[in-house]
Amino acid sequence: MNNYFYITTPIYYVNDKPHIGHAYTTILADVLTRYNRNIGRKTFFLTGLDEHGQKVQQAAEENGIDPQEHCNQMAPRFKELWQKLHISNDDFIRTTEDRHKKVVKDFLQIVMDNGDIYESEYEGLYSVSEERFITEKEAESGEFRDIKKLKEKNYFFKMSKYQDALISHIESNPKFIQPEHRKNEILGFLRQPLNDLCISRPKSRLNWGIELPFDKDYVTYVWFDALINYITALEFNQGTELFESWWPASYHLIGKDILTTHAVYWPTMLLSAGIKLPDSIFAHGWWLMGESKMSKSLGNVINPMDLIDDYGVDPVRYYLMREMVLGQDSNFTMGSFIQRYNSDLANDFGNLLSRVTTLIKKNYDGKIPEPGEYLESDLQIRLKGESLSSKVEMLIGEMRLNEAIEDIMQYIRTVNKYMEDNAPWKLVKEDKVAAGRILYVAGEALRLGAVLLSPVMPHRTGILLDALNALNTNTSWGNLNPNSMLKDHEPLFPRIK
Ligand code: MSP
Repeated sequence: MNNYFYITTPIYYVNDKPHIGHAYTTILADVLTRYNRNIGRKTFFLTGLDEHGQKVQQAAEENGIDPQEHCNQMAPRFKELWQKLHISNDDFIRTTEDRHKKVVKDFLQIVMDNGDIYESEYEGLYSVSEERFITEKEAESGEFRDIKKLKEKNYFFKMSKYQDALISHIESNPKFIQPEHRKNEILGFLRQPLNDLCISRPKSRLNWGIELPFDKDYVTYVWFDALINYITALEFNQGTELFESWWPASYHLIGKDILTTHAVYWPTMLLSAGIKLPDSIFAHGWWLMGESKMSKSLGNVINPMDLIDDYGVDPVRYYLMREMVLGQDSNFTMGSFIQRYNSDLANDFGNLLSRVTTLIKKNYDGKIPEPGEYLESDLQIRLKGESLSSKVEMLIGEMRLNEAIEDIMQYIRTVNKYMEDNAPWKLVKEDKVAAGRILYVAGEALRLGAVLLSPVMPHRTGILLDALNALNTNTSWGNLNPNSMLKDHEPLFPRIK
């Protein structure tokens, strides 16, 4: 296993305030980062903002302010949300920063010097909303708005030159585009001849962008600019160790709507510049409200801030990670949120914690009892706990996060059952040593569950592990220290009425 884990989120447009879709990808990246850090890998987690292009220019115009000012006002809203969501990113990139402009210009120059950029007059259909030229067929599909005919001199990237190389890379690297059905979608798309990519916009039409290093009358197409952020943060052009250590990225996490730009534009750009391709591009599905997509015009956009204020950060993170099958769409409903919370967190997890700690406080002066000799049923809990960590590692490696979480909760339920079967609250009256063993085993199993869930709920599992006097991420059995004192803690998952 490669010891370096570099993960990215899309950089978000600042034309709108952050919503649950942005929060979702960022939490997912955070969970994967924390998990990989826990199992001993070195991690680098990048997120940030996409600040150029027409959408942002228009949003600034609507607010009657300069685009840079608009970006400067929006950036803190994203940063604040990430802080509130306990996002542990290592860098936060904004495409209007000098470090990024410099890399984009260097990159363009490299591609130009390789003979992969040419000038051409082009007449075609242009979708203002998508900010790109579209084909007749796309125009007929009805999926594009604000279409107009444009005739312009522009710069083009010879994307078509790399079509075959890209196909063979996809075919020989099964993990390159995930999940499988997205890979097939891209291979299907690549069965048609690939067009070259228009990578410039004349300043007369749009000036909010990075100027081309070889023509001051043009700015760079926003996607050509934005994708490069993934190497800007590694100081691609500065000869530092950063790039050598972290590139290629382990994962570019994206939503399914931006698959083509990531799985076709970006790899061909990298091929042209002679840079290795990322290990994996992973496209997740959409969060829907009821059956419909969240959108500003439908007024059904969930504001993550409100959820956190009402229920706390960790339950929101838990719900989003537990509910979505990666690669498919999911439905967000308040009903399912509350049900998940009450059944998994308040009932299963919260109950186990309060049973174990209450009994230890009442009967053992708050001191964790000695395990003594294990009987068969105790050994079963231990064995299940030991195989759980490797199962979780396998599932997370395959991006089956919801299953990993379900397996952990299943384990917690098994431990609750073990408590009921052994009833230490009765046993303690007859045999304090035997009851102590049960409480030790249940406490240790709870500790293990909390460590495995800590990437998802870092805050509350932190409180729990601290209360057990075992604040570390060790997943081997037996890390709960007999004779150490339990600490008092706030209620972790009070039921939602
Ligand atoms: N700026 C580009 C990305 C450039 S990356 C080099 C962009 N930005 S975006 O803000 O419009 O969208 C960012 C991400 O949010 C996309 O991956 C998109 O799929 C995701 N989501 C937006 N709404 C969503 C949901 N309702 N559900 C899940 N994710 C969604 O595209």
